[in-house]
Amino acid sequence: MKKRLGPSDRLYPMPCPLVVGGTAKETDVLAVAWIGIAAGTPPSVAMALRDTRHTLSLIRASGEFTVNVPSADMADLVDFCGITSGRSTDKFAATGLTLVPAAVLSTSIIAECPYNMECRVTHEIEIGHYALLVGEVVETHAEESVLDATCEKVDVGLLDPLVYIAGSREYRKLGPVVAEAFSVGRVIGEQDLTTP
Ligand SMILES: Cc1cc2nc3c(=O)[nH]c(=O)nc-3n(C[C@H](O)[C@H](O)[C@H](O)COP(=O)(O)O)c2cc1C
Repeated sequence: MKKRLGPSDRLYPMPCPLVVGGTAKETDVLAVAWIGIAAGTPPSVAMALRDTRHTLSLIRASGEFTVNVPSADMADLVDFCGITSGRSTDKFAATGLTLVPAAVLSTSIIAECPYNMECRVTHEIEIGHYALLVGEVVETHAEESVLDATCEKVDVGLLDPLVYIAGSREYRKLGPVVAEAFSVGRVIGEQDLTTP
């Protein structure tokens, strides 16, 4: 038996990266759970930022941002960046998080986050009190220690990304592999297979 819960912004689980905006003159960072991949070609990220966020004003000024994926043991650092504003606090001084110049864009990535995406803003859509920003991913970076045996791809087990659970307001980590994607479904039938 299902219970109707009404309109909701909850989807389980959510990523919870640190998003950096700004240039050498001024940089800020915030936690963003309302974020995901918007397209594969060109590779694009979509995120919803409330229009009051200080980091949003820096992203609008430069047209750039980076998505920095923290490991599960960085929950306290992420939470701090999600409960304080760069208007009154230097979050980098307070947390010790280190900014490193991005490779393609004039903003920065966070050294302590093992996976990073450089994004150039391509669209902005107003949704109520939120700005939905779409950014084309122009470069990615991964710490060598989280790469798989091919040294070309991220091993998500090694990355051990922090995830966020809305509603219960908890940070969690991922569990074990349960099946191979684009494969396990074949046991049900192989007719009309599509390509990913
Ligand atoms: C777990 C978590 C997830 C968050 N996700 C978002 C989000 O998706 N969009 C948003 O606008 N704010 C989000 N926030 C709130 C901002 O991170 C927070 O308001 C931050 O202090 C803004 O910093 P700034 O003013 O320096 O930009 C989140 C906060 C937490 C703790």
